[in-house]
Amino acid sequence: MAQGISIKSPVGDKLDWDCQELKAKFPKTKDDIKEPIPSPESCLLLIDGKVVKSEKTATEVESPVITQDDNKHVIIGKFEMASEAQAMQALEAAQRAYGYGREEWSKMKLEERCKHMEGFANDLEKKTDEIAQLLMWEIGKTSKDAKSEVTRTVAYIQTAIKEAKALSESESKWEEEKGILCQIRHLPVGVVLASSPFNYPLNEAYTTFIPALLMGNSVIVRAPRNGATPHFPTLELFAKHFPAGTIQFLTGSGREVMGSLIGTGKIDAVAFIGTASSAAGLFKGAPNPQKLRVMYEGEAKDSAIILPDADLDVAVESCASGMTSFNGQRCTAIKMIWVHESKAEEFLKKLGEKIDSMQLGMPWEEGVKITPLCEDTKPGYIKELIEDALKKGAHIVNNGGKCYATLCTLSILAPANKDMKIWSEEQFGPVTPVAFYTDLQEPIDYVAKSEYGLQASVYGYDEDDIAKVVDALSYHVGRLNINAPDQRGPDVFPFTGRGNSALGILNAPEGLKFFSVPTMVATKTDDERNVKVLKAVNAGGKSQVVFGAK
Ligand code: G3H
Repeated sequence: MAQGISIKSPVGDKLDWDCQELKAKFPKTKDDIKEPIPSPESCLLLIDGKVVKSEKTATEVESPVITQDDNKHVIIGKFEMASEAQAMQALEAAQRAYGYGREEWSKMKLEERCKHMEGFANDLEKKTDEIAQLLMWEIGKTSKDAKSEVTRTVAYIQTAIKEAKALSESESKWEEEKGILCQIRHLPVGVVLASSPFNYPLNEAYTTFIPALLMGNSVIVRAPRNGATPHFPTLELFAKHFPAGTIQFLTGSGREVMGSLIGTGKIDAVAFIGTASSAAGLFKGAPNPQKLRVMYEGEAKDSAIILPDADLDVAVESCASGMTSFNGQRCTAIKMIWVHESKAEEFLKKLGEKIDSMQLGMPWEEGVKITPLCEDTKPGYIKELIEDALKKGAHIVNNGGKCYATLCTLSILAPANKDMKIWSEEQFGPVTPVAFYTDLQEPIDYVAKSEYGLQASVYGYDEDDIAKVVDALSYHVGRLNINAPDQRGPDVFPFTGRGNSALGILNAPEGLKFFSVPTMVATKTDDERNVKVLKAVNAGGKSQVVFGAK
């Protein structure tokens, strides 16, 4: 431990994984739950314009909310894994609907597609409360955050439409260079496969497949095991607003559904948000990897660096929200804190007080910040990380170390060292390590040598220190935040990273370009017949590709 830093554990470094105080936060019985429990139509898929229901191998969708009297999860519907055969039907439908620009959607002008998308966005917005309620019950997101996931998604679609119209307008012109006259239009790549993670099951699917759809591709969306039900109310809207086969919706395991689709070699682009190891396994299965366009977003270990002259109130506020928002289950969550030794004691005290003042409870309760975890294995994993860190010299420096079933307090562990699992593993949950440093090079090296590279934040005002961190880390992460929290938004900015954290950019303008090919139709100007015929095609409305050039 660093010299002179006194660390006290208010819980005596003891874990209580059967915490009765937390048990009391759950409803006693199902009858005690005043919040309406959804009962969505279950086991739905969308293939070739038809909403398909099948319950042959259905399993119950368990909410992370349990009831005290029997420790049972509240059930909110049924889920069925799509079969490999259904995945192949979806692929055939998507290929038919794409048809290399011969079919309704793929040959439609971008501006026309925007009209369909506007109709869809309007209808989606009307379902905000229904979808938010499913998100809240299925993945345990607070009701406020669940609603904001839906409204943010609708706003994203509207931005994508605006960007698509601007792209279409910007391409409606001739370009001429060195005797070549041409028009360049972004045309679809073909069939796009998109998969989202459980923490943003709706929003992060839409951030990839909406630009793909707008550009005229056919898409297959695969929903995660936790977080499929919020998609169910949307399927009828897709069927209403888009031609059959343009969009398919599948559930199913990544390996079986995505693996078998990628293994056909008939997927032209894939957008995958998940872990690096699953991504590596999936992409390796592509028979023609050189043809597969990949957009990937993976794990992260975002660090916050607290400089000696940091305003600790600002740093604590920002770190606390970065640690607790959706219980730390965000790729941009703060997953490691580095504090200068001169500020360590004061920082830990303030951070501990802040975290301990946050309300734990059910996701519908007003003001609640920490909610039940939806992944079965997560509480056990959090316990394992804490026990490992305690054995290797850390202390629980706040009122942490407690859990009951799916509800865990957030534990702050200090001082962290490199022998601990939590030093390098992405916890993606309610536990945060704090390391102390004397030389700024230590946190810089930690971030620079990490296999991840999403974002980092630095707190302080010394120009030399800030410049040093900015210059060293800008080559290792996709975004560096100064006295500000790590986050994806605002969604118009590029969201990307390096290393195992990201490949490609998740935002509307970049998405439109990623899922399309800037295609030139060109001729030589030294023969006037060439120019004449190209301009006649443009003016005559005979082509779906060459038109509108002024
Ligand atoms: O989980 C990864 C998300 O893309 C993070 O987005 O910073 O808006 O929560 P967020």
